[in-house]
Amino acid sequence: MMTAQVRTIEFRDGQLWIVDQTLLPSTYHQICIDSVETLWEAIRSLRVRGAPAIGVAAAFGAWLSVRQAEGEDGHDLWPYLLAAHDQLRTSRPTAVNLFWALERVEKRLQSSRELSATDFRARALDLALEMLREDERVCEQIGEIGATLLRDGMTILTHCNAGALATVRFGTALAPIYVASARGLRFNVIADETRPLLQGSRLTAWELTRAGIPTTIICDGAAAAVMRTRRVDLVIVGADRVAANGDVANKIGTYGLALAARAHGIPMYVAAPVSTIDMATGHGNDIVIEERSPDEIRVPFGLHVGAPEAEVYNPAFDVTPASLITALITEHGLVQPLNEQTLRQHVLEPSSV
Ligand code: MRU
Repeated sequence: MMTAQVRTIEFRDGQLWIVDQTLLPSTYHQICIDSVETLWEAIRSLRVRGAPAIGVAAAFGAWLSVRQAEGEDGHDLWPYLLAAHDQLRTSRPTAVNLFWALERVEKRLQSSRELSATDFRARALDLALEMLREDERVCEQIGEIGATLLRDGMTILTHCNAGALATVRFGTALAPIYVASARGLRFNVIADETRPLLQGSRLTAWELTRAGIPTTIICDGAAAAVMRTRRVDLVIVGADRVAANGDVANKIGTYGLALAARAHGIPMYVAAPVSTIDMATGHGNDIVIEERSPDEIRVPFGLHVGAPEAEVYNPAFDVTPASLITALITEHGLVQPLNEQTLRQHVLEPSSV
């Protein structure tokens, strides 16, 4: 139903392949992930990034850890799996999909430990492939639901990359745009460049223009002025973690956008799968925010632009209070208004919302 979005994570010829996003937009190159160490490094260095994509990639960690390990049965292989999961948990702290995926794999494989080693390995791979297919399905559903909010001719502003490259395929925030475009609606998308790693200008603008969707890149600092002096009908972003009270952690700069959108009366939507909702974290202030290397700001892409003596503070994410979000779009529907009660109901009894 949608045009051929890039496949960010692929299992082909018995191997796991990811698009190396650090090379985009100049080079499209897939790398083979053949060990837990390579997977850890790929997540840590943002070769694979975006909360859902991180979760799916991590789901292959169990299979990578046991596929060459010696043992008679699942019990013998289990310690390898646990060690791999412990290592992967240290890769990035904010996107809850990483922890969700590892926990799900552990729970599901626990009861398979009686299997022979060969069958246990096959079960680990099947489970990862099931999660890969599920992510595609869920993103398509988010796209369908989100598309009901879009009208022909809209100008839509987005931040970071919550598109195909942040998931297995269609994306979360960009999925509604892909669905509605496939039905003939036309949009202008404004992509914040997203300092310091430029996921907006390098990745979002790349995948949207590749899909034939007109896209304008602006620097992050221009967003509020663009809202005031030009037309922005709607803001839509993804999420790395939604706390139980509806507060949303997403790429640094999202909070500022939400404040500016509120000041200008522009609706602010967040699109994310239910797997990004973390009911165990009560409040946005409890979400661990990743701080990354000062060199991402001092020496971005190898260019010395920051005074070497200056201190650098480089949080990768911020938290937007639920009260600034018009609605959360998940595969189950819209959560509007977004608060602890509506979110709890959405997660526990999706059909009643
Ligand atoms: O540091 P990144 O590039 O992994 O940050 C990604 C984001 O902030 C995305 O908006 C979020 O993960 C949602 S992806 C569907």
